[in-house]
Amino acid sequence: MMELSNKRVLLGVSGSIAAYKSAELVRLLRKQGAEVRVVMTSTATEFIQPLTFQALSGNIVYSAWDDADRGDGMGHIELARWADVIVVAPASADLLARLRQGMANDLLTTLCLASASTIAVAPAMNRLMWDNAATKENLAVLKQRGIHVLGPGAGGQACGEVGLGRMLEPEQLVQGISGLFSSGILSGAKLLLTAGPTREPIDAMRFLSNRSSGKMGYALAQAAIEAGADVTLVSGPVALATPDRVKRLDVNSADEMYEAVMSEVAGSDVFICAAAVADYKPANPSKEKVKRKDNNVDLALTQNRDIVASVTALPDKPFTVGFAAETSDIEAHARAKLKRKGLDLIAANQVGDGQGAEVDENAMTLYWADGSQHLEKTSKAKLARQMVTIIGEHYRATTRT
Ligand SMILES: Cc1cc2nc3c(=O)[nH]c(=O)nc-3n(C[C@H](O)[C@H](O)[C@H](O)COP(=O)(O)O)c2cc1C
Repeated sequence: MMELSNKRVLLGVSGSIAAYKSAELVRLLRKQGAEVRVVMTSTATEFIQPLTFQALSGNIVYSAWDDADRGDGMGHIELARWADVIVVAPASADLLARLRQGMANDLLTTLCLASASTIAVAPAMNRLMWDNAATKENLAVLKQRGIHVLGPGAGGQACGEVGLGRMLEPEQLVQGISGLFSSGILSGAKLLLTAGPTREPIDAMRFLSNRSSGKMGYALAQAAIEAGADVTLVSGPVALATPDRVKRLDVNSADEMYEAVMSEVAGSDVFICAAAVADYKPANPSKEKVKRKDNNVDLALTQNRDIVASVTALPDKPFTVGFAAETSDIEAHARAKLKRKGLDLIAANQVGDGQGAEVDENAMTLYWADGSQHLEKTSKAKLARQMVTIIGEHYRATTRT
């Protein structure tokens, strides 16, 4: 199994003799399915050539400020957003000190400061540098801020000494990095999820549908798996691969989605309706293809059954999360829908003007009865992980009471 499929790893390399090991790390990360971009400090480029990382990652290597420039000076922010995780390996003592101070005096430290992603560091240094009170204090503060520390290991060092301070071996780092993606917050929970659009038949060939690509729902399925849930995905027609370990049931119309959800929902702990289910369907679909010459397409519409409301009306209803795609008055509409449909949580986002459907990035606000949380624009994969964490926390809170 590829443990890092679809993951975007931004690998920071700083000035340590261990930098050569990171070349192998890039190779192993890619072997596990990750996309890797490498950012090197200028000192790191004295230890190993950027060309090595370029060849192994298949991407250009960033080091100087303008390496990330796209013409508007905002390339570093774009790069920070791109990453699902930033891993600094090796992390020099100096780099750890700069991170602790919140410095942004080169591209790598700026990216770390400008990122909402998970950050991990793999220290590599002489044992006395590692044992120094300054380094210890820096690490303690970084850990307290939520930065993950991978290693170091013990053993012989480049300086001839023996002790703690060696960077972990690339294989161990890959394991540590994979572990960063499994939060466990939904461990043991049975999660039912819908995704994608529905197709409402007009005749044997034609249908009414919408712009949903299914990307958000599929990212949620992946994030829920990573969080330890047992995931069933009821999917409308999309061009996306099924995430590993997800049970996928394919449907076309809103009626089929309704039937699939109602037959799967028993025993579910969490239900997320991320599908863009058509509210209306043609009332009298034709079994035959309607011919142009017949000029008799019947587009009278009738309402589809409300999947979410049917689930929340169940006596043993799961913790239910809905979506509200709005073009205006987002909060008012989302809160009204939260109440009307008996949802526990609703994710609201702006659609139209190239936002929301079909694109790879999104921003949204989650609302619940007495609170809300805004999630900044980022990749749908990252947004899904943030959402799953919040859903997991709320779900756990309800099961505790
Ligand atoms: C040959 C050599 C090896 C070094 N190895 C390390 C090391 O393993 N760990 C470390 O923290 N610093 C090491 N340093 C010192 C760092 O390169 C130095 O602190 C540098 O300023 C780090 O810059 P950077 O964090 O921007 O990459 C080494 C220096 C030299 C000359």
